[in-house]
Amino acid sequence: MTASSNLLRIHHAINRQSKRAYHDLITLPSKKPIISQGPPGYSAVTGHVVTVFGCTGFLGRYLVSKLARQGTQVIVPYRDEDEKRHLKPMGDLGQIVPMEWDIRNENQIAECVRHSDIVFNLVGRDYATKSFDFASVQVDGAERIAKIAAQSGVPRFVHVSHLNASATSPSKLYQTKAEGEERVNTAFKGATIIRPGPLYGYEDKLLNNLAIWPIWWKLNDAKTRTRPVHVMDVAQVLANLVHNAQQGRTIALPGPSTLTYEYLLDLVSSLTFQPPSRAPVVPKSVALAVAKAAQAVWWPLLSPDEVVRRYIDDADTPGDWDSVGVTPSEIEQHAIQYVRRYRSAENFSRPNVFPPRPVLVEEEVGLGF
Ligand SMILES: NC(=O)c1ccc[n+]([C@@H]2O[C@H](COP(=O)([O-])OP(=O)(O)OC[C@H]3O[C@@H](n4cnc5c(N)ncnc54)[C@H](OP(=O)(O)O)[C@@H]3O)[C@@H](O)[C@H]2O)c1
Repeated sequence: MTASSNLLRIHHAINRQSKRAYHDLITLPSKKPIISQGPPGYSAVTGHVVTVFGCTGFLGRYLVSKLARQGTQVIVPYRDEDEKRHLKPMGDLGQIVPMEWDIRNENQIAECVRHSDIVFNLVGRDYATKSFDFASVQVDGAERIAKIAAQSGVPRFVHVSHLNASATSPSKLYQTKAEGEERVNTAFKGATIIRPGPLYGYEDKLLNNLAIWPIWWKLNDAKTRTRPVHVMDVAQVLANLVHNAQQGRTIALPGPSTLTYEYLLDLVSSLTFQPPSRAPVVPKSVALAVAKAAQAVWWPLLSPDEVVRRYIDDADTPGDWDSVGVTPSEIEQHAIQYVRRYRSAENFSRPNVFPPRPVLVEEEVGLGF
């Protein structure tokens, strides 16, 4: 082989390499290179490194799964060893990186975000505990994570709040969610705020709870209006944000229809073939007294704030689904998947029966189903 043909081969090799680099190397304000490799999928590398605080929860597991399936490396901060085990096989070898953390420990938070170019904060709790009241998780905790992410040069921050976040809400959860949004926006310029409606899915506290404790959904005569949303739809929106930055925006994600708890009780009862609950409607004062008494046990039962929330209609803020590339699905499309386990053996395979939707609600919001 001549010297000139050797030079030509080297020249081609360099050209090939520089082509790849120009296509794949993106330098963000953080100066972190993002180099993707391979066709999309589980074994690919998108080049993104993402931290998901709150990954061990209901929404978190689906987000981690969707990110890992694209080939994104996910840092999964955990408190309890056992709570993160199911996340490990969601990604290829080395793509799911568990790191122990405490929401009060700034050094651990900094370690968790050090290599990431996107940080998701899904941490939240819908009841207060002796160690953590609402504000310490939803306000101080959220601010701390956002501040450390900003200081560490993380280019993007996504914070999950709630559709009903409002400083004037009678619910402590919704109040602290609103305050948390404000603090996050101050601590991290350009943060994306996501406001989902009540989530339903396998591990939810909506359909499962309606099936097990119908009596507590009859508060307010079950007339409270709600806009439930499928957990997978919200997880998909979050996963899409990796490629579709919506920086500085607040995105509301209510379900596609406004329904009442009365309708949801009927829906669960029809799908499970369990007779509708004949329990009387409990007055609010009694429900609050029971909820306060239930605070004596250490595991979460009905909390007083939950009783207050049962009387609050979901905000009628329009959804921003179009901008994030997801069409939300109706609850009737998925509910059977999650409540079939409450059917008795003889009813297990019977065809599904849907109750009629309340006329008033149909007229107002239209039926996509
Ligand atoms: N579920 C809904 O219907 C709904 C509706 C609208 C908005 N959201 C919001 O969406 C986010 C995710 O909801 P989710 O249903 O997935 O909640 P979830 O199942 O209760 O999970 C909450 C996550 O936050 C973590 N967390 C809670 N308190 C913590 C603390 N003191 N220190 C460290 N980590 C803590 C939990 O970690 P551990 O596993 O270690 O406890 C868990 O990973 C929350 O911000 C929630 O407010 C939920």
